[in-house]
Order: sequence, then structure tokens, then C-alpha cells
Amino acid sequence: MSARSIASPHVVNIHDFRPLARRRLPRAVFDYLDGGADGEMTLRENCRAFDDITFRPRCAVAFTDCALRTTVLGTEISFPAMLAPVGYSRLMHPLGEVAAAAAAGKAGTGYILSTISGHSIEDVRAASQGPVFYQLYLMGGRAAAEAAIDRARKVACTGLVVTIDTPVAGLRERDFRNGIKELMGTSPFAKIPFLPQVLSRPGWLIGFLRDGGVPKLANVVVPGQGPMEMGDVAAALAASAVTWADLRWIRELWGGPIVVKGVLTAEDAKRAVDEGAAAVSVSNHGGRQLDSVRPSIRALPEVVAAVNGQIEVWMDGGVRRGSDIVKALCLGARAVLCGRAYAYALSAAGEAGVTRAIQILRADVERTIRLLGCSSVAELDRSYVEVPADWGAN
Ligand SMILES: Cc1cc2nc3c(=O)[nH]c(=O)nc-3n(C[C@H](O)[C@H](O)[C@H](O)COP(=O)(O)O)c2cc1C
Repeated sequence: MSARSIASPHVVNIHDFRPLARRRLPRAVFDYLDGGADGEMTLRENCRAFDDITFRPRCAVAFTDCALRTTVLGTEISFPAMLAPVGYSRLMHPLGEVAAAAAAGKAGTGYILSTISGHSIEDVRAASQGPVFYQLYLMGGRAAAEAAIDRARKVACTGLVVTIDTPVAGLRERDFRNGIKELMGTSPFAKIPFLPQVLSRPGWLIGFLRDGGVPKLANVVVPGQGPMEMGDVAAALAASAVTWADLRWIRELWGGPIVVKGVLTAEDAKRAVDEGAAAVSVSNHGGRQLDSVRPSIRALPEVVAAVNGQIEVWMDGGVRRGSDIVKALCLGARAVLCGRAYAYALSAAGEAGVTRAIQILRADVERTIRLLGCSSVAELDRSYVEVPADWGAN
């Protein structure tokens, strides 16, 4: 895709990337990225719930400068949004995780590398001049996790993000219909019924074949077996649920800051504090795990109240505009993670796409806080938003 096709007026907001991604990716890959679990209620509500929050601006003020910088776990980022872990990014674009990390780094913000990644932690770290976090699943067992933690430490990752909402993979119905398991598996015969969708995207197919086909999981190295096959992910996840007891073990082994991702209740938030987490991310995995849980933005006030300033609170889920980021900050989030907002852009145009997506979000954040009458993200608080009365812990 040419640079022109992702510039204004073709791409003005994040939603404009979605049809471009759909045009470039085979249906199975697009739906893997775009879809959610079961009836996709939480997926839809994650975005829609932001509309329930309205702004309360202070007008007739003007500022020359607008400070967007903040810190996460003591590390400075250029604006309060980072890139969430997105598995299988290398199927969306051959440079996948490396391209996303490079774009984040050039924009001065952070990137979280998923365990389900095709590029190695070392290559991703080298591609970014900004903070890189490693998202940990215990796939492949403790020995594989220990090796990944060791590699994350050696390349000086800023923190570990432990995702706690995936004891099994959610039921993503679109993936079944599109034959993603068959397409990722090793049987050529099983793939046949699903091949037309792949052949209808020759641009993507050429890149995929040049990249060597379905990549292995470069960061899940089972001792004596080498990197895990991507097709083995669902079974490996089901065999490796993370528990609070694991968190203690991971914390001792890692020795650095740990972010617990996937917290939706005061109970889990308090538990994360007690277990020594440095931050929690309020998240429902972008509506891909348990369907019918609350949208993340709606769970945020309860978690912020429960944590009571003891550790940082991040959030992710449904963020498509800078105004969504600002709303989350007003409700007490330290920073926000964007998933699909950059993954559509990565799928459409690789690193250039991610750079453009970050640019759009950053410009949105600055414009929104200026329109609210603030000169910095640090000034944002509850007084700048109105939320429905039944949202609970305020
Ligand atoms: C295609 C895709 C793959 C994902 N893979 C992972 C993953 O490997 N690990 C993880 O912790 N979260 C994963 N997530 C969840 C994201 O980190 C994040 O919670 C979610 O995307 C936020 O919702 P949003 O896409 O609406 O921004 C994935 C999300 C998507 C869309």
C-alpha cells in the first residue's frame, strides 16, 4: 500500500484503517484480528461505552504549550498511549512485531510484545528506541517461560506484562468458520477448503511466502524441542493457565516490575496489589475471551477506587480515538493500551501504517485536552467528564 493511501484524506481517523486491512488480508487473518468471542457483545460494548461519557470543558483559556508526556513505571513516554500485545502480528505483516515496535519507539512510546509472536524478543528490542515490555503466557511450561524471562532481562525490557484472563482461549466463532486452525496446521488436505480466501489476496500471499510461511513462536522455546509451532497455541494455552501462585514465582524470577493484565473487578485489583504488581491493566482482552463481561472503560472506576493510588492503573479495550484515551485518563488511568487501533494500520501498511495511527491518536489527544481547557495530561481528572450514575465506584 502506498504512503499516499494512508495519508489524509484517505485516512483521517483510526476507523479508516479497517477497510484497508480487510482489503489486504485473507478473511481468516482479518477476522482473527477484527473478531471477538461468542456473540461479540463485549467487543462491541468496549467501543460503544465510551459514548456514554461526555466531557465538561472549561473554556476561554489558551496555552502555547501542551504537555502530553507522562511516565509508566518510572519510564517516560511521549503521550499516554502504548501498543498492546497483539498475537500473530507477523501474519498481519511480515515485519509484524518489529515494525510495530519500531514505530512505537520512533514516536517515543512503548510496545508490548506478545508471547504469541513470530519475531524474537532480541530483534524487537533492537528495533525500538523506546520502552519494550514482554507479555508473558506460560505456554510450553515453566522452563520455556523461564527462558523467555531470562531473554527479556538480557535485552533490558522495561517490565513483564502477565495476562491473567486466558485460562483457555475464548471461542472466536469467526476463526472456526474461516478454518484458521486448519490453515495454521500441518495437514495440506485440511487446508484445501479454506484456500480460496488466501489466494484472493495475492499481495499478502507473496509477502507471507517470502517470509517463510507460518512462523514459529520465536519466544516460546521448549527445552529440547526448539520454538513452538503456531498451530499448537490453543492447546498450549489451555495447559498453562496463570494463577496467583505463578505470579509470585514469576515476580521472584524476574525481579523487575510486573503488570497484571486482565483485571475487571475490585477483588482482582486488590489481589494484584497484595501480590506485588507494579500496575494492573483493566482489560477484557478486547472482547476476545469471556463474552458479556463489562466494557473495560466501565470497569475502570471500580478498579481505580480499589487500587486507591497504591499502584498504576492502565486500561485497554475499545480505544479508537484520542478522546477515548482522554476519557480513560479522566477516570484515573495512567496510560492506555491500543490493540486493534494499530493492528489494522499494521495490516494495511506495516510500520508506516502504525506510525500514522500513532500520529492520529496523538494529535487527537492534544486537540481534545486543549478543547477541554487543559495544558497537560496531568491536569485531567473526574471533573472533566460526566459518567452515567449507575457506573458504580466513582
Ligand atoms: C488480534 C489480537 C491478538 C491479541 N493477542 C494478545 C496476546 O497475545 N496477549 C495479550 O495479552 N493480549 C492480546 N490481545 C489483547 C490486546 O492486548 C488488548 O487487550 C486488546 O486488543 C484491547 O482491545 P482493542 O483491540 O479494542 O484496543 C490481542 C488482541 C487482538 C485484537
